[in-house]
Amino acid sequence: MSLFTMDNVRKTFAHGEVKEEILKGINISLSQGKITALTGASGSGKSTLLTIAAGLQTASDGQISFEQQELTSMRSEELRQIRAKDFGFIFQFAHLVPFLTVQEQLDLMLDTAESPLSKQTQKKEIKQVLELVGMWKRKDAYPASLSGGEKQRVAVARAIIHSPKVLFADEPTASLDSKRSQEVMKLIQNLSKERHITVLMVTHDMDMLDFVDEVIEMRDGKIVDKKNT
Ligand SMILES: Nc1ncnc2c1ncn2[C@@H]1O[C@H](COP(=O)(O)OP(=O)(O)OP(=O)(O)O)[C@@H](O)[C@H]1O
Ligand SMILES: [Mg+2]
Repeated sequence: MSLFTMDNVRKTFAHGEVKEEILKGINISLSQGKITALTGASGSGKSTLLTIAAGLQTASDGQISFEQQELTSMRSEELRQIRAKDFGFIFQFAHLVPFLTVQEQLDLMLDTAESPLSKQTQKKEIKQVLELVGMWKRKDAYPASLSGGEKQRVAVARAIIHSPKVLFADEPTASLDSKRSQEVMKLIQNLSKERHITVLMVTHDMDMLDFVDEVIEMRDGKIVDKKNT
């Protein structure tokens, strides 16, 4: 059964008088625990689609549902709660907070998500997740002293520390060399399997498709192909 669906989603941007339709009727259905990759040429609308799916910007038309709830008709506070508790995000660059240590980044995320866990349980969870991404030994390091791959592993940890149900990732490996890209992708794949996290990720890198269950190809704001790998 689908955990997350987009039904005839459209997005129009106005450039002065001229309106341009960037998403032209998108239908997507994500099954629980599966990884779906979104590919397509630059400008085809992948990031727009991802940010609308994640509730970071609104659709001009269409329906988006998550666990039978209609996100498009939700009040902004309700949507904010879902975004904070049930969704996780990874971007192309790690965007870590420069003045927080690795473990403080995760602590902040748990606060933002209004985690119901006790402080003690939160500490244990942080340790477990940092061990999972191989960064526990660097828990007291500041971002400036980490390599690109290490920063991105912390970004992955931060994106899943609050146990989201859906993880949205926009070119999570684009800033990494091919060895580090493989490592980060393997990590996302393991997390998705172990924690049953549903993943929608944009990628340009065809090597990353080995790690995904489904590939959706976009062209000019439309889906032109969907295939299982
Ligand atoms: N806020 C906005 N206002 C106006 N136009 C926008 C806005 N956001 C995106 N666009 C336009 O929508 C189109 C799709 O952009 P989008 O960022 O979704 O593409 P993309 O497939 O992610 O490309 P890339 O692979 O280069 O990241 C582009 O032509 C872009 O200029
Ligand atoms: Mg993009």
